[in-house]
Amino acid sequence: MAKLEGACAVVTGAGRGIGFAVARRLAEEGAKVVISDVRGQEEAADMLAGAGHDVIAVQGDVTSEVSVDTLVDGVMSRFGHIDILVNNAAVAAELKPQPFEELIATDWHRIYDVNVVGIFRMCRAVSPHMRAAGAGRIINIASGAAFKATSGLMHYVASKGAVIAMTRSLASELAEDNILVNAIAPGFTLSERVQASPDLVDAFGKVAVSSRLLKRHELPADIANVVFFLAGPDASFITGQVLAADGGSVFH
Ligand SMILES: NC(=O)c1ccc[n+]([C@@H]2O[C@H](COP(=O)([O-])OP(=O)(O)OC[C@H]3O[C@@H](n4cnc5c(N)ncnc54)[C@H](O)[C@@H]3O)[C@@H](O)[C@H]2O)c1
Repeated sequence: MAKLEGACAVVTGAGRGIGFAVARRLAEEGAKVVISDVRGQEEAADMLAGAGHDVIAVQGDVTSEVSVDTLVDGVMSRFGHIDILVNNAAVAAELKPQPFEELIATDWHRIYDVNVVGIFRMCRAVSPHMRAAGAGRIINIASGAAFKATSGLMHYVASKGAVIAMTRSLASELAEDNILVNAIAPGFTLSERVQASPDLVDAFGKVAVSSRLLKRHELPADIANVVFFLAGPDASFITGQVLAADGGSVFH
């Protein structure tokens, strides 16, 4: 039997990129997967359903409490349980590196609203259902950038540092109900949107490969594999941790 047979997983920001790879991997392992995004979710779900997977698309904006509540209520009435939540949605691949002096407070608010408060909104909406079930897995996609002296993306780097801190705090608050919360810190990853941004690839691509022990580009599937591990039965005694999945780049 597939390891996630019968589980219901919600993946935010799964219309493309790393989120899509995660959705595909969880579906391949037998989970029913809810592909949620502000765009691209229907096409992504059609692609996976066409390959025979049990997936549905739901429009979901993590910056809107109404949208998050509608998403979670809809999934609960359709499936009756949410076992796995992957908080992947972020303002990420579309960012252009720039000196911090050029950022304005609005840039910070936008990033924090999606990357940090978005995770809070999703966790707050899902936690009553996981608590009632006495089980759950929450996996937050952070970034190795939070451990490095990454320049040019200060607001993004700070938001991912916040995701790591939140992961620990959430793990502590949810442990009594057997809800395990972990984060993954990927390295620079060639998701579709990153590949389409020569600025990002120039700024970070070569240096990422040369600075890791395993000298190749990181791909969305490398992260999806770790999400599957943290979501599955083999990770049943791991919580509050940050797993650096980056080919041996940061050591913490
Ligand atoms: N690509 C990398 O190098 C890299 C490295 C480390 C961490 N990460 C993290 O991995 C995750 C995915 O990255 P990616 O490269 O696939 O980026 P991406 O920009 O292609 O994907 C982000 C997804 O989030 C969605 N999204 C944005 N705002 C949203 C909102 N308000 N509500 C719901 N969905 C929203 C987007 O539509 C998109 O599908 C992000 O959390 C990113 O920070 C990426």
